[in-house]
Amino acid sequence: MKVLCIGDVIGRPGRDALRSFVGRLRAELGVGFVIANGENSSGGVGITVQSAEDMFGSGVDVITLGNHTWKHDKEIAPYLEKCGRLVRPLNFAPGTPGRGVCVVEVPGGGGVRVAVMNLIGRVFMEACASPFDAADAALAELLRTAPGVPVVVDMHAEASSEKRAMGHHLDGRVAAVFGTHTHVPTADEEVLPGGTGYLGDVGMTGPYDSVIGMVKEKIVHKFRSGRPMPYVVARGNVQLRGVVFEIDGRGKCVAVERVRRDVTGPVVSEDA
Ligand SMILES: [Fe+2]
Ligand SMILES: [Fe+2]
Repeated sequence: MKVLCIGDVIGRPGRDALRSFVGRLRAELGVGFVIANGENSSGGVGITVQSAEDMFGSGVDVITLGNHTWKHDKEIAPYLEKCGRLVRPLNFAPGTPGRGVCVVEVPGGGGVRVAVMNLIGRVFMEACASPFDAADAALAELLRTAPGVPVVVDMHAEASSEKRAMGHHLDGRVAAVFGTHTHVPTADEEVLPGGTGYLGDVGMTGPYDSVIGMVKEKIVHKFRSGRPMPYVVARGNVQLRGVVFEIDGRGKCVAVERVRRDVTGPVVSEDA
């Protein structure tokens, strides 16, 4: 089975890229299951019910999140409670709405299931519990409740070292670990020695003529002046970035391939 994992989807341009390419990638590459990080899907920061449902409508099976989970707290907290295909970082504080792991049937997969786990790092990020300990506890629980189901992990973190450490920590125990959050793709894909597929950061799905998805002039001004500037989603050079992990019947990854698709037509929608 091939699982396509898509990095942080940036606002309307990113959602439009999903609409253009997810169905085609399923057919072209034989992808059976699609995971996408949605923490930037509404206006470039945060997720709303509408942006989540837009992503599901484009063929995404599970949405993962990150440090921007609570931007639209009031509407997303109840949605996290009821939507079984939307996960937030597992190692958020105890009592946080929603879940950090979900087990979902592969569409048309004859009952085959995939477990998706979302973790968040602690290096240059907000304080939270250990993602390493949280992953261990959740894997022990999955062994009991969903034995034999392959686990794919979105490690949402700033530091490549912390993401790589997680890859090795989980090597041989999960099918794949992919990194999100930096919006900058890395080229370090591999199958780790224990059979876990790994990529340090998928990169964003959104406008690359930008600074991490936002209008570049505003971000340059912010850094030069030291004063805050509103984030505005950029429009140019929209790309989908993803990674495909091929997982065998034993839950081991046998191949990893980065995927890039460029949006060539004009971006029609003007809303964020
Ligand atoms: Fe993030
Ligand atoms: Fe992000």
